[in-house]
Amino acid sequence: MSDIALFDHNLISPEVQAALPPNHTIRALRSGDYERGFLQVLEVLTEVGNHTKEEWLERFDYIKRHNHECTYNFTIVITDDVKDRVVAAGTVFVERKFVHKNGLVGHIEDIAVDASQQGKKLGLRIIHALMHIGAKRGCYKVILDCSAKNIPFYEKCGFTQKEYEMAWYV
Ligand code: ACO
Repeated sequence: MSDIALFDHNLISPEVQAALPPNHTIRALRSGDYERGFLQVLEVLTEVGNHTKEEWLERFDYIKRHNHECTYNFTIVITDDVKDRVVAAGTVFVERKFVHKNGLVGHIEDIAVDASQQGKKLGLRIIHALMHIGAKRGCYKVILDCSAKNIPFYEKCGFTQKEYEMAWYV
């Protein structure tokens, strides 16, 4: 597979692109981002696993092929184009509900900024770009779960605290 984008570029906010530092790009995840360190960026979040290129492509290709189905998975990255490296990443997936008259809800997941790049507003740009995608795709709300220490960050992005998260681990 050559360097294929997960979804169409017209969903990427031009305002967010304009606000990035020079030589940085915000765009859909691409199959070639394996070499640009996408999985290493996610390591600030949790254990990622040592994917072979084949294992990475298996998941990328699955998401790409199934994105027209029940949920739609938009993963985006910010790249440093001088170093040709991924420096930040995030996902919004769109859930199709019955309530709110077949309403759509955006769920933000796996927000990660490379440890050496934190504090430069890249996280904020990723969130604003994901909110833009959710709004453009017709979501009536966009929600996420986070730790208490990240609440001030999400408040700065425009979110307000609601409900509680529950989890069950298999
Ligand atoms: N507490 C208080 N304020 C914060 C925090 C924090 N923990 N993090 C960021 N902020 C503030 C910044 O000071 C900034 O405020 P300002 O506009 O007044 O200057 C504003 O929020 C925007 O901050 P960014 O520079 O965009 O933050 P950054 O690029 O570092 O991204 C992130 C924040 C995503 C939390 C990053 O630090 C990171 O990757 N952390 C490790 C992984 C993680 O916790 N990811 C989120 C998991 S939750 C989820 O995925 C749904």
